[in-house]
Amino acid sequence: MLAAAAGMLLAAAGPSAATEESRELVDLPPMMRDHMLTNMRDHLAALDEILGELADGNTEAAAAIAEKRLGMSSMGLHGAAHLAKFMPPAMAQIGTQMHQAASRFVIAAQDAELEPGREAQRKVYRALQQVTENCNACHQGYRIR
Ligand code: HEC
Repeated sequence: MLAAAAGMLLAAAGPSAATEESRELVDLPPMMRDHMLTNMRDHLAALDEILGELADGNTEAAAAIAEKRLGMSSMGLHGAAHLAKFMPPAMAQIGTQMHQAASRFVIAAQDAELEPGREAQRKVYRALQQVTENCNACHQGYRIR
């Protein structure tokens, strides 16, 4: 019964989702682990708020959230450099790429403000997807518990 339920969950997650065993376990000190998970929940909350602002046509507000909570200027806030020392280099690299992608999203969003249009809007979505692809890459490769 449980196995069947797990199988259904996996099927729902799709073939591209990593399993427990395929992710590398990164052993963080408990405080850092908690801190990282708190950051993570804020990352998802930020994404949610960004999408909400985009849906309302508030591109500038979306950019501001991205810069503050996901972009390069959020790295100090999250103690990213300190945390990165505990990560495998490839994992830290994905983290840096995510922050850089968020800062590029800010530029795409600002461009769309200055010169609105279908093409600019597509670039905004592409830039946001380049953020989430890094969320995904890290989640597929690593776990901390
Ligand atoms: C550098 C790696 C990395 C990046 C980049 C990353 N995450 Fe995570 N995230 C993790 C790890 C590791 C976990 C914990 C997985 C586990 O062990 O359960 C996690 C967990 C989470 C959780 C669950 C938190 C909880 O309390 O259980 C959420 C939500 C999340 N991430 C959202 C995001 C979002 C959204 C992004 C991108 C904007 C993102 N993450 C980017 C590594 C990353």
